[in-house]
Amino acid sequence: MRHRVVVATPLVPEARSRLDDDNFDVVVSDDPPANGEQLREVVSGADALVCSLANSVDASVFEAAPSLKVVSNVAVGFDNIDLDAARRCGVVVCNTPGVLDAATADLTMLLVLAVCRRLRAAIDLLETRRWDGFDLSSVLGRDVGGLTIGLIGYGRIGRAVASRARAFEMQVVHHTRHDTGEPGFLPNLDELLVQSDIVSLHVPLTASTRHLLDARRLALMPAHAVLINTARGACVEESALADALEGGRLAGAGLDVFEDEPELSERLRVAPNVVLTPHIGSATVETRTKMALMAVDAVREVLAGHPYPHVVQEAWKTAGG
Ligand code: GLV
Repeated sequence: MRHRVVVATPLVPEARSRLDDDNFDVVVSDDPPANGEQLREVVSGADALVCSLANSVDASVFEAAPSLKVVSNVAVGFDNIDLDAARRCGVVVCNTPGVLDAATADLTMLLVLAVCRRLRAAIDLLETRRWDGFDLSSVLGRDVGGLTIGLIGYGRIGRAVASRARAFEMQVVHHTRHDTGEPGFLPNLDELLVQSDIVSLHVPLTASTRHLLDARRLALMPAHAVLINTARGACVEESALADALEGGRLAGAGLDVFEDEPELSERLRVAPNVVLTPHIGSATVETRTKMALMAVDAVREVLAGHPYPHVVQEAWKTAGG
């Protein structure tokens, strides 16, 4: 039986070609990534949807696709997918955990270093032709060695950041909802915010992590502290962050994710000592290739009726697919 697979986000050719066999009719709607009415139209009659954070897979999409069996997100996060609707409609949702930990942790460290070494000010000096030679007192940043980094979330990505931070001779503390039993665990998030020179977020976006760092919590961070976010923009109350940066109550921020992507808050764009990148945590050729292959393999396995390990919903995990 041939399965109709909708590819609604660009895939590397290597991954796309894994769907080139007699079992699949592939419909590509990736330029731009299908959304809204276009997505609803293209998924009607589909058995599988391969998508990414650029696709909003809400309840209306599930309702428009009565034969849908699997949604495979080329991402570790899945806040772009309505999981309740997926469950109601009996659709398996898969993601791509594990393969992007190193790339995301590397970008986290890049932002830590960029903010602490004032990279933006340094580059600006050259780009505006204001540099007039070596100066012992110009663009002074801070040594990261010896600073304490507080990781909020200590899953695969948080741990990958921890090992990099230790290599830079930083002290590492972490907070999660459940005691990890590991050195550096702090049961109280507020305490981590008070103690850390750098705070870095590594949690998924859920109802309980939306605005996890709100005005009250941001105010607990010392004025010399720096916030790094490579997780999800909405985990931070952006307007409160802009207030803190503008008011000098926070020394800087390195942000790869934003509350209302692709919209960028003008206040954050011009805030002092911020380094901003456009959601590129996993953006390396190697990592994006692995993610795409994993997402396509998920479709193949689920449609073949095989158990698949990277299923987001607990119910299917325990049932084995
Ligand atoms: C990227 O943000 C991802 O969730 O993979």
